[in-house]
Amino acid sequence: MIKCSFKDLKPYQQELLLEAEKAMDNAYCPYSGFSVGAALLTENNLTITGSNVENASYGITICAERAAIIRANALGKRRFKSIAVIAGSKKYNAKEPTAPCGACRQMLYESSVISERNIEIIISNTDKTNVIISSIIELLPLAFGPENLNNKNLNAG
Ligand code: THU
Repeated sequence: MIKCSFKDLKPYQQELLLEAEKAMDNAYCPYSGFSVGAALLTENNLTITGSNVENASYGITICAERAAIIRANALGKRRFKSIAVIAGSKKYNAKEPTAPCGACRQMLYESSVISERNIEIIISNTDKTNVIISSIIELLPLAFGPENLNNKNLNAG
């Protein structure tokens, strides 16, 4: 885990975080007021963003990270190198970086097995002064995944 700020990031990491920040503007979060933006970097360097989508039936809310994964899947993209996540709003300035929730970590783990790499996870506070670079293996050790089910051909379809 590396703690840093926006200016310390590599150019591709900065670009990814800026795309995630833009996606925050499209969050549908009338209940929490907590806008989250995520940006996935595919193995072919395409950026695919997602934002959180809440619902009057609170529990069916979709997080920004999973929204990005689902969007990527619809575009035929399942192999990722990195994801950036940022959250907050004009009303709520998150001082700490927002880390993916447990459900999102589980889905990112599946993506990491499909991708055959330990996906990098860049999380940021609202003003990008407080950034952490981590990875899915670090955030979800001893994960349950496809290997437990003996599924060998994840890239088949
Ligand atoms: N949320 C995300 O989109 N990603 C996270 O990593 C944490 C939580 C959303 C879900 C809900 O819309 C709001 O943040 C408050 O929980």
